[in-house]
Amino acid sequence: MLTDNLKVLLASTQSFAIKSQNFHWNVEGSNFPQYHAFFDTLYNDVNETIDPIAEYIRILGHYTPGSLSRYTELSIIQDQTKIPRAELMFAESLHDCEVMSKLAVAIFEEATNESQQGIANFMAELQDLYGKKAWFIRSVLKTERE
Ligand SMILES: [Fe+2]
Repeated sequence: MLTDNLKVLLASTQSFAIKSQNFHWNVEGSNFPQYHAFFDTLYNDVNETIDPIAEYIRILGHYTPGSLSRYTELSIIQDQTKIPRAELMFAESLHDCEVMSKLAVAIFEEATNESQQGIANFMAELQDLYGKKAWFIRSVLKTERE
């Protein structure tokens, strides 16, 4: 159901935003200034999408989950309680961007089938956002040109 998937997207987005802020605060390495700035932008860009997702759930006539325990139940983004080294932070974020993008694509298809064009349009934007972040991260992780 479209609303159920939007709830999963909301919880996963909250979870990914928290993780990105954790990485922004705790990343270390010789490229610290760029890494710190990258995760700040990632956090802000992900965080900005939370409110519109929640409002679409309300527009569809459902209540929006708004508690940490509900987000933990619903999120498909793996929580990170440790402080991984920088390379692992990027690798994990790349995986998370791919998960978020896939979810956006699934909701896009569902929204299109239900003629919810505004939601479909927003999902297309999310696919672009996570695709672009994944490109940035892949470029950070790549050490040599083949
Ligand atoms: Fe900061």
